[in-house]
Amino acid sequence: MTQLLAIIAHPKTDKLSTSIKLYQNFIGSYQESHPNDTIIEHNVSDEPHLPFDETALSIYNKKASGITFTRHERAINSVRQSYVDEFVESDKYVFVNPMYNFFLPAEMKSYLDLVMQIPDTFEYDDQAKLQGNLHSKKALHLQSSGDRFHGANAGNMKDLDLGDKYLKTVFNIMGVSDFQSVFVEGMDFDPEHAQEILNLGYKKVQNLARVF
Ligand SMILES: Cc1cc2nc3c(=O)[nH]c(=O)nc-3n(C[C@H](O)[C@H](O)[C@H](O)COP(=O)(O)O)c2cc1C
Repeated sequence: MTQLLAIIAHPKTDKLSTSIKLYQNFIGSYQESHPNDTIIEHNVSDEPHLPFDETALSIYNKKASGITFTRHERAINSVRQSYVDEFVESDKYVFVNPMYNFFLPAEMKSYLDLVMQIPDTFEYDDQAKLQGNLHSKKALHLQSSGDRFHGANAGNMKDLDLGDKYLKTVFNIMGVSDFQSVFVEGMDFDPEHAQEILNLGYKKVQNLARVF
């Protein structure tokens, strides 16, 4: 059975979140066209994943050199590993976020630090070349930003969407080269056309969901 994993990074808010709305339009259409798929959702802003702290670093170093874990490290490692296993077992990924300071929200980066684990998701081969271990999977990035970074109106902002570039690069490192993005952008810049921009984005993701 196909499993879609959605990683959302948006703190709870009473105000409409345009990135979450974009995701809701995507997933509503996806569920209609893929009724038998399993969908797992994590909002990493509200359920923060385990931080890369002293214990995590010790686990990382001990794994690399084959040193036995303490009891505490064993317990933490098994929780960390369950997130990695869930990621590896998923077939499709949807990452959803507002742009924060030209990048992904920190909690999303922190989640990536958790699942980008050697040798589960990638490793180095005998020639020290990067080798992705996820195969036949696809990823989608849904992002909302105040300014415009893509398309004809991007001007000198064109190279400043570092989050999308980063996400595409790390998925590629893990072996997922089928990576697409849909942006709703410029609503803060051009509030008069905000609804129009959003409606276009919603339509785009509804159509994409049917073939994703
Ligand atoms: C802390 C913070 C940092 C932001 N940084 C940027 C930025 O670098 N570039 C940008 O275009 N918009 C930036 N924004 C604006 C949001 O990306 C934009 O309002 C987005 O549409 C919010 O999505 P949401 O409706 O899902 O919350 C920032 C907003 C916040 C709160």
